[in-house]
Amino acid sequence: MAKYLVTGAAGFIGRSIAAALLARGESVRGIDNFITGKRSNLAGLEAMEFLEGDLANPADCARACEGIEVVFHEAALASVPRSVADPVATNLNCVDATLNVLVAARAAGVLRVIYAGSSSVYGDAPTLPKHEEMLPRPISPYAVAKLAGEHYMQAFTRVYGLETVVLRYFNVFGPYQDPTSHYSGVLAIFSRRMLAGEQPTIYGDGEQSRDFTYIDNVVHANLLAASAPAQKVSGQMMNAATGKRVTLNETVEILRDLTGYKGSVAYEQSRAGDVRDSLADIRLAEELMGYKAQVDFREGLRRTVEWYRAGGEAA
Ligand code: UD1
Repeated sequence: MAKYLVTGAAGFIGRSIAAALLARGESVRGIDNFITGKRSNLAGLEAMEFLEGDLANPADCARACEGIEVVFHEAALASVPRSVADPVATNLNCVDATLNVLVAARAAGVLRVIYAGSSSVYGDAPTLPKHEEMLPRPISPYAVAKLAGEHYMQAFTRVYGLETVVLRYFNVFGPYQDPTSHYSGVLAIFSRRMLAGEQPTIYGDGEQSRDFTYIDNVVHANLLAASAPAQKVSGQMMNAATGKRVTLNETVEILRDLTGYKGSVAYEQSRAGDVRDSLADIRLAEELMGYKAQVDFREGLRRTVEWYRAGGEAA
């Protein structure tokens, strides 16, 4: 019987957590409905028990949670613009699904649920860096949905005693991130386009900044959140990031260097719901569970470009 459940196991972050657990010799179950997850992302995860299922369906959640000790709840319909286009789908796959996972986890006697939160919940609050004490000011439906999930986590800890840990991810990037969709993360899109000699498009003036976080840092934070003592982390919400920020114009310059792209960059109007600047204060995660970013931005981007260059996404 598997000890760990990873939801969204065929997605970028879920498959990366599952791979790290398997590499430690753990027994892992994964579930995905393939709305955004890809079957090709399951390559290399053959040791994982895999269920095709939908978290919007309580019966699938019950099946997934049976016998599990720790859940990594990574499944979501990511993307701010996708939520602007279809807020109902985002709500179903982020809010309803999260509540269903919690109900099933509690019924199955799961010990701890770790939740993929999002930096988007800070919204347009001008204060930098963003720290956990700040009042959330979500702008987009996506941010609202991710915030609702956080509150459900904390309510289940308060009301039912289920251990939960919220990790607010800041713009995660790395191998296995899908570069093909209009809703993909910007670094996946830019890496692929620039490697192919195609022009990247910046929405806005390119001076918006992000605390771009390489995937290994987020995996590391999750593994810490799973093993840290409950009295330290249960019911807590923490940023998972690097504590540094880069503008989009700067990322393009670094990517020119890494990809050899010599062409120009297109500038278009900024996107609705877009946040201007994002930077995390990561001291709480360090204090509560000894978290430190393991891989810096440039090295992470180098590894990412190498992965796309090697055709990883087509594997
Ligand atoms: C937001 C969240 C992030 C979350 C993600 C889920 C914030 C600060 N961050 O990311 O935590 O994980 O949603 O999807 O809210 N852009 C371009 N050209 C492109 C694509 C994007 O210029 O081709 C720009 C966007 O307008 C934005 C920046 O790049 O300013 C980053 O966009 P994206 O990668 O989609 O992530 P966020 O919306 O910042």
